[in-house]
Amino acid sequence: MRKIPSMFWVPLFLLSSSFSVALDYSVITPRDSLKDGDTLSSTDHVFQLGFFSFDQDEQPQHRFLCLWYKQPFAVVWVANRNNPLYGTSGFLNLSAGGDLQLFDGEHRALWSSSSKATKPAKNPYLKINCTGNLLLGDDEEAVLWQSFDDPMNTILAGMKLGKNFKTQQEWSLTSWKTLKDPSTGEYTLSLDTRGLPQLILRKKGDPTYSYRLGSWNGLSFTGAPAMGRENTLFNYKFTSSAQEVNYSWTPRRDIVSRLVLNTTGKLQRFIQSKQHEWNLANTAPEDECDYYSICGAYAVCGISSKNTPSCSCLQGFKPKSGRKWNISRGAEGCVHEVPTKCGKKDIFVKFPGMKLPDTSWSWYDSRNAMTLEDCKVKCSSTCSCTAYANTDIRKGGKGCLLWFGDLLDMREYASFGQDVYIRMGFAKKEFKGREKVGMIVGSVMSIAVVLVAVFACYRKKIMKRYHGESLIKRVGEENMDMGLPILDIKAIYIATDDFSYINFLGRGGFGPVYKGRLENGQEIAVKRLCENSGQGVLEFKNEVKLIAKLQHRNLVRLLGCCIQGEERMLIYEYMPNKSLDFFIFDERRRRELDWGKRSNIIYGIARGLLYLHQDSRLRIIHRDLKAGNVLLDNDMNPKISDFGLAKSFGGDQSESSTNRVVGTYGYMPPEYAIDGHFSVKSDVFSFGVLVLEVITGKTNRRFQHADHDLNLLGHVWKLWVEDRAIEVPEEDLLEETCAVSEILRCIHVALLCVQQKPEDRPTMASVVLMFGSDGSLPDPKQPGFFTNRNVPDVSSSLSRSVNQVSITMIQGR
Ligand SMILES: *[C@@H]1O[C@H](CO)[C@@H](O)[C@H](O)[C@H]1NC(C)=O
Ligand SMILES: *[C@@H]1O[C@H](CO)[C@@H](O)[C@H](O)[C@H]1NC(C)=O
Ligand SMILES: *[C@@H]1O[C@H](CO)[C@@H](O)[C@H](O)[C@H]1NC(C)=O
Ligand SMILES: *[C@@H]1O[C@H](CO)[C@@H](O)[C@H](O)[C@H]1NC(C)=O
Ligand SMILES: *[C@@H]1O[C@H](CO)[C@@H](O)[C@H](O)[C@H]1NC(C)=O
Repeated sequence: MRKIPSMFWVPLFLLSSSFSVALDYSVITPRDSLKDGDTLSSTDHVFQLGFFSFDQDEQPQHRFLCLWYKQPFAVVWVANRNNPLYGTSGFLNLSAGGDLQLFDGEHRALWSSSSKATKPAKNPYLKINCTGNLLLGDDEEAVLWQSFDDPMNTILAGMKLGKNFKTQQEWSLTSWKTLKDPSTGEYTLSLDTRGLPQLILRKKGDPTYSYRLGSWNGLSFTGAPAMGRENTLFNYKFTSSAQEVNYSWTPRRDIVSRLVLNTTGKLQRFIQSKQHEWNLANTAPEDECDYYSICGAYAVCGISSKNTPSCSCLQGFKPKSGRKWNISRGAEGCVHEVPTKCGKKDIFVKFPGMKLPDTSWSWYDSRNAMTLEDCKVKCSSTCSCTAYANTDIRKGGKGCLLWFGDLLDMREYASFGQDVYIRMGFAKKEFKGREKVGMIVGSVMSIAVVLVAVFACYRKKIMKRYHGESLIKRVGEENMDMGLPILDIKAIYIATDDFSYINFLGRGGFGPVYKGRLENGQEIAVKRLCENSGQGVLEFKNEVKLIAKLQHRNLVRLLGCCIQGEERMLIYEYMPNKSLDFFIFDERRRRELDWGKRSNIIYGIARGLLYLHQDSRLRIIHRDLKAGNVLLDNDMNPKISDFGLAKSFGGDQSESSTNRVVGTYGYMPPEYAIDGHFSVKSDVFSFGVLVLEVITGKTNRRFQHADHDLNLLGHVWKLWVEDRAIEVPEEDLLEETCAVSEILRCIHVALLCVQQKPEDRPTMASVVLMFGSDGSLPDPKQPGFFTNRNVPDVSSSLSRSVNQVSITMIQGR
């Protein structure tokens, strides 16, 4: 038996004035009275109980008895949330019998702990234990009442949400009305125990509004990826028995966190930083697709790359209304394309990566013992069973969950979610038809695009597999008959660690690039295209297929692509040495590049470009050749990247694409920047600029010189006409005397490449010849864009001409 002797409480004299003394208690007994201004602190002084006003401007002040984190301040519990005190005359008394009561100045009770103890307490005391639990105890170790049993809007580590079936006690959260008013707000978060228990966030008075975090799958709630994501930081605990179902979490490491249901119905996870601030770690719901059944039955909601939600049917289902529909509450959704027949003919198709449908009308195996095969048997033997899944996904999965009736509120996750097996009608003849519908529907819908693409290409395989399990699966890294590997989005997420910022390599012309490592160990670079041109899947695939066919040792190899909804990704071989700009514009790293290496780079780029312009079966104009688009392999061999993308991903698109397609200031020839005219000669111009940059280690664009206002081109031209070309290269390069003539020839060729008029510039074929021979070269004229001042406002002049530009981009030959 633990006794807390009364000598243990030591009032601290914090503030003293002639009238009153504010006390800081560590424990309160029936002899004490906690007045406004007094506080009760946990022994570690992390938590404190006292009176507080949320709105300092109100007169008289609305005072609340609150429990808070002292540093950084955050209120975590409020006693009299719906019954404020007016003014500072309130006090908290603990009766000898063990009742905790809050009184106002007129001794009216505003709140009481209403403990359900059957017999009077002997030596009651009130204290805050170090988890932030305000504990009303008796010295017989009985807990008479605790704040953890009366949650407000906050869950602290060790607190629980749930329901006790015996006592009917519930633990749920209710939001505050406003940030300045802790009274009962509109939102609640509670465990719904019809069917398999699921956590649901609801809005009062609005039955159509809810966010289903969903059922527990052993690791997390099926609809709350954000809350399962930091499972390296937290231990989540979910228990379900005949007595009680509850959920709680505790930090795994030395971190301090709280989970808050805020006034606008969002769950916010805060984590205390080292600087003692509350940082918002994540939020749920994350997007509009999280709201309950926003697309209706058998449909999934997807967020496009433009951040707009859209609905689509699961594969094998068609819109109920016969056409595309938008998200709305009460949306009709989809129906089976081939009706189920409730016989042996029905099949079950696996849909991986799903948020499990609403389990309100589900059955589950409470012992968590059935296998998936048992589960399938059970479902197929019950006519109204529409789907089945494992209840627990750990260790390969176990337990059985069955649905009856339409499947509502699903969504697809890229790197989260679980397998659902859905009953489908099966008819051999209709199969072809379905495929067609799938293709038409798929092009306008966002979910099953992967499926559809896969469907179209690998029809035979699927036909074979259809009786079996997996429809959507990794299609493989091997080249298939189309010569275009499509990688599974899941594999990409895994490879890039969910596009973790740690793997962020940089931002290319068409989107961010991430490093990744495939399961087989191969390193890849994943370009996530920010915006697509609105092309259909097949068009996109054709485009990528063309690009994938371009193989040259000075081009970065495209390994495959990945399509997910409107999101498209390109998978390239990974280049460990980053890009050329990383070296040549860096004082220190530049020194690693002697002339031998630099000339190898220049010649390599020339050959790669020649291949694009002429030797490949397609004629490709790069349009954005620059140091940042030249990657370097282990041996510092250059590899051009981002080729062939301009047309596919923006060229023939509206305003938004113009700012992306413009190419790069400093590398653009005048006719493009001013008139939007584009040809292979524009790449030649960019190449010329690049050569001069490699030789000088300076950027054309940001070039500055004390003596004049010219850019790099102008500067080189000036030295050239003054017969001082030898001053162009970096001095270090000239140490190899035998290199001098080569360097001078390079400068000469570069000047020819950057001529004002396209017709004065050589083709890449001539450039390669010029490098390879000693023959005499024509004299260059004044280059285009040789001062920084006469460059027009590029983006405005481009927008009107982008269309005609892009037409010339790729021509079959
Ligand atoms: C509260 O406690 C104080 C001090 O123990 C006592 O004097 C007072 O009568 C109590 N008030 C009520 C309303 O119980
Ligand atoms: C604090 O209270 C919780 C909930 O009653 C309890 O589980 C925990 O053991 C207590 N901790 C201490 C240090 O008393
Ligand atoms: C949750 O419920 C289980 C019974 O299902 C019970 O044993 C456990 O103590 C409860 N957890 C908490 C934190 O109260
Ligand atoms: C509630 O949380 C969401 C998501 O973190 C946030 O955007 C919103 O501003 C919060 N509302 C209030 C009133 O703080
Ligand atoms: C969907 O919403 C868009 C934009 O609000 C609207 O233009 C379109 O007509 C809607 N489509 C349907 C089928 O309601």
